[in-house]
Amino acid sequence: MLPIVLHPHPALRFKARPVTRVTDTLRQQAMQMFESMYEANGVGLAAPQVALPYQMFILNTSGDPEQKDLEKVFLNPEVLEKTGTAEGTEGCLSFPELFQKVRRAKIVRVKYQTLDGTEVEETLSGLPGKAFQHEYDHLHGVLFIDKLGPIGKIAARGAIAAFERMHQQAQKKGEIPSDAELLARLEELAKLA
Ligand code: NI
Repeated sequence: MLPIVLHPHPALRFKARPVTRVTDTLRQQAMQMFESMYEANGVGLAAPQVALPYQMFILNTSGDPEQKDLEKVFLNPEVLEKTGTAEGTEGCLSFPELFQKVRRAKIVRVKYQTLDGTEVEETLSGLPGKAFQHEYDHLHGVLFIDKLGPIGKIAARGAIAAFERMHQQAQKKGEIPSDAELLARLEELAKLA
């Protein structure tokens, strides 16, 4: 299983590289991401959240590991068109237990590739539309805390500061490498995209 990294791990701000070939390693990483996501009771997970700097994310909007038909892997996703706005409560597996309202497009026309190389274009709304936009942002180093309104920003401030303290403490204790080392690893992995 791939461990999910928490804010402010540098992988979360690292711009993910487009996937140029689907290797067995990439397939395996996608499968491991599903395991990590279910373990954390999530409905979506982006590769940067497991410190892989690739344009790949997964969704199972049921969150139910039994519903394999709802498992989807998105490679090199693009948003072609946005329509309307919808505000809803969001969380993120890299910010455990932080939930805030985020305003997003109500309907999105999107394009992506699947693991078998198929190009898909579709229109998403509701939870799939919201989750797509959230995970798509992760591939560009954008986090849901960046999208909070002024009240949400104030409400989330304490929780965000606590994540930042935890990260620094873990580094001090040597439980995780320094940001410079983590960045060097990401650069190495990015070359393999
Ligand atoms: Ni997230």
